[in-house]
Amino acid sequence: MELLIDSYGRRIKSMRISITDKCNFRCTYCMPAEGLPWLKKAEILSYEEIERISRVAVAIGIEQIRLTGGEPLVRRDVPDLVRMLRKIDGLRSLSLTTNGILLKQQAGPLAEAGLTRINVSLDSLVREKFSQLTRRDQLQRVLEGLEELEKHPSIHPIKVNAVAIKGYSEEEALEFVRLARRKAYVMRWIEFMPLDADQIWRKEDILTGAELKAIIEAEYGPLVPITTGDPSETARRYTFSDGIGEVGFINPVSEPFCATCDRIRLTADGQLRTCLFATEETDLRAVLRSDANDEAIAQTIRQAVWNKELKHHIGDKRFKRANRSMSMIGG
Ligand code: 5AD
Ligand code: SF4
Repeated sequence: MELLIDSYGRRIKSMRISITDKCNFRCTYCMPAEGLPWLKKAEILSYEEIERISRVAVAIGIEQIRLTGGEPLVRRDVPDLVRMLRKIDGLRSLSLTTNGILLKQQAGPLAEAGLTRINVSLDSLVREKFSQLTRRDQLQRVLEGLEELEKHPSIHPIKVNAVAIKGYSEEEALEFVRLARRKAYVMRWIEFMPLDADQIWRKEDILTGAELKAIIEAEYGPLVPITTGDPSETARRYTFSDGIGEVGFINPVSEPFCATCDRIRLTADGQLRTCLFATEETDLRAVLRSDANDEAIAQTIRQAVWNKELKHHIGDKRFKRANRSMSMIGG
């Protein structure tokens, strides 16, 4: 098996694939309330095209694939895609990031298709706050989706991801901890990044992982670090002194992990992005649709990876916003 390496010596193992730019939520930290035009159907990669890129990428060094959106489950027949990708030799992990709203119907078919890992985004457990943030009054359905997941133990762990926002997330931190401990969900907070379409992000809105950890430790005592030895792990992981439950903090702003980044991203319209904050992309779709052979696709991926950005510049003067917002990139 080949290794995919960038010019800074980082080994690239993980590819996030956005399968649609559409979403049934409108989270304020991600999308505008309205008016974001959707990609046209012809622009979006078919499942066959996604499978082909994935197969080539795995052959040259990718080991993990995560499906994202927009909201991936608004696209039809996602279990079919899961089934196609599962067959790729050498793929070690296949996961999905979802807002959870369609899980009540989809968890079963996804488990049956062979999905084994999932991340559910959930930023608030209070109905009004949830509605405000997502601009949709659907908390109950997300909670039901999570419950449905519990009936399918082949998908585990169930990870719950909350974006941490100053003045917003502190008061619910302990409620999330209790939920995670009661249900054995793995809880993750991720620092708010400047990837929102409305450009409301301000430095002052960041609630750091360290601040959240302090809030939790004030109630539970010192958290106990969980170390995996995997350098590309983005979360700082902890359990409690009684060993029940796991929480983690993803701190891209206060403690950037670019130096150990092992990720690339493929947008729904077939553009390869080597950084969340990339300002340039590689048009893999054009190569794919030009009758190129697999080696030409492999070579395009290798070249893009070689040029992967050193790091993001959030917080310094050189920072430039990415040319797309989160729903167009895939988290
Ligand atoms: N900052 C941090 N995380 C974000 N997400 C979406 N927008 C942002 C942002 N501006 C998260 C979602 C989801 C994942 C796909 O990315 O909450 O968990
Ligand atoms: Fe949709 Fe996810 Fe963006 Fe929320 S964060 S609007 S659920 S794509």
